[in-house]
Amino acid sequence: MNRATRRTVIAGNWKMNKIPAEATELINAIKAEINGKKTDECEIVACVPYVDITNAIEAAKGSPIKIGAENVHWEKSGAFTGEISADMLKAVGVEYVIIGHSERRQYFGETDVTVNKRVHAALAAGLKVILCVGELLEQREQGITAEIVSMQTKIDLLGVTADDMKNIIIAYEPVWAIGTGKTATSEQADEVCGIIRNVIASLYSESVAAATTIQYGGSMNAKNAEELLSMTNVDGGLIGGASLKAPDFAVIIAAANK
Ligand code: PGA
Repeated sequence: MNRATRRTVIAGNWKMNKIPAEATELINAIKAEINGKKTDECEIVACVPYVDITNAIEAAKGSPIKIGAENVHWEKSGAFTGEISADMLKAVGVEYVIIGHSERRQYFGETDVTVNKRVHAALAAGLKVILCVGELLEQREQGITAEIVSMQTKIDLLGVTADDMKNIIIAYEPVWAIGTGKTATSEQADEVCGIIRNVIASLYSESVAAATTIQYGGSMNAKNAEELLSMTNVDGGLIGGASLKAPDFAVIIAAANK
């Protein structure tokens, strides 16, 4: 973390978990865990399934927890059965949206081109974006991690202005570390977050790069969060499994406030 030039963001990614009543319970449990503790050094976000959004927002009222969605379509409206637009998310009070998660890329055929379209739609609607990039295990083993994440970052941000970058968070998520219990070492996380920061400097400027929040995601948990967050280029976490357990999520939030 480097709080001097950028904000730290701890975001949960609930994936396809929790029915609305459980969403209320989980947000209430997180609220109870963080009540009276220091939270002002980081932003706290819970990205939840679409049907949980209303309950989550209601439950989060009066707390520092902000609510995000897990994807968004790029068109404003029309014949796109099953999709949700940025205006729809905005209208129900969503503030953040995850775009380009590796599970979307892997299982639902999303490409950097469609990720880029989604980023533009979200920004146009006034949403903050958590843009995910990261290499596959084969790519790391081949030694092309830097090339892969640089290419993803460049294509995903095509046409995004320096001013828009205020509303973009990047999440570096090595695909081999997601949901596997295998975490990148803090050095690996810091190195790749640093590579992404250099790409942003080359696309925009050193000051934009210094101000951009770059999270690490992939089996971040209550045990390893403090060490990962101690790295200069790791400005928070995108947390799957551990965000579904209020006490664990609260430990990660506490680590971001040390
Ligand atoms: P995980 O998921 O923490 O369960 O590995 C992270 C993510 O997919 O964002």
